[in-house]
Amino acid sequence: MSLIKWSSELSVEIEIIDAQHKKLIAMINKLDAAMRLGKGRDLTEKILDELVEYTRKHFSAEEEYFTKFGYPFTAQHVKEHIAFIKKIEKFQANFEKEKLTLSTKIVDFLSDWLRDHIQGTDKKYIRFFHDKGLK
Ligand SMILES: [Fe+2]
Repeated sequence: MSLIKWSSELSVEIEIIDAQHKKLIAMINKLDAAMRLGKGRDLTEKILDELVEYTRKHFSAEEEYFTKFGYPFTAQHVKEHIAFIKKIEKFQANFEKEKLTLSTKIVDFLSDWLRDHIQGTDKKYIRFFHDKGLK
């Protein structure tokens, strides 16, 4: 069962960013499935690594638009990205050191964070980006 599902409620009305959010959601669901199905540690680690890497890429893509268009709420938004990256890197490091087993709690944290971030923070840039011609 997938925990988080993309729907129009999560749309930021910018095609390229919606596509990246869909991919992130798919990756979180893949991690959830690996955990629930008791897939091996190596596979789970690989999925987690891919998720961290893709998250970094996605945040950079958003931040490049912020810089390019002079988005006024860049600082606060970037702060949220940095805090999230720190948190998932910690999961990743602890998982690799076998100090952490992946649990529903972690996957819930990832999906809740992403949902809240898209709906609460990302959605604030829709109008601004649309005015700049980004769709
Ligand atoms: Fe964001």
